[in-house]
Amino acid sequence: MPVTLDVNGQRYTVEPNGRRLLGVLRDELELFGTKLACGEGACGACAVLLDGKPVNSCLLLVEAAVGHEIVTIEGLSAGRATAVQEAFVAEDALQCGFCTPGQIVSATALLERVPTPSREDIHEAMSGNLCRCGAYPKIERAIMRAAGNA
Ligand code: FES
Ligand code: FES
Repeated sequence: MPVTLDVNGQRYTVEPNGRRLLGVLRDELELFGTKLACGEGACGACAVLLDGKPVNSCLLLVEAAVGHEIVTIEGLSAGRATAVQEAFVAEDALQCGFCTPGQIVSATALLERVPTPSREDIHEAMSGNLCRCGAYPKIERAIMRAAGNA
């Protein structure tokens, strides 16, 4: 039975077919910015905002996203880099870049909630986002910069 999803301000009708949100975003809506890495909720590469809160879309059943506002990395910027994205570039806060969309989604949610976060706030909010390249110090600096704390 088809359901309706609100993604980046647009409405889509999709067949859940037992799928997770990440599969629909990438395979059907062609929003490839959200990444599949572990596929089991352990890395945050697939993070999207659900009503402003970061969730791992690789775990979320499509039905559970119905009635919520979903924002992917593509929906954050509306054609222009956000302050968080600019700060990641300025601080060179990535190496391979695979984890970066999820990092930016989580950082954006943090700064919406806590505009001037402490280091502890950042560590807590970003604890679900792993970076195999170990870019953590630069990611932290980027978030501080975006918050105007750098
Ligand atoms: S791919 Fe979803 S948490 Fe790792
Ligand atoms: S920049 Fe490579 S995994 Fe984070």
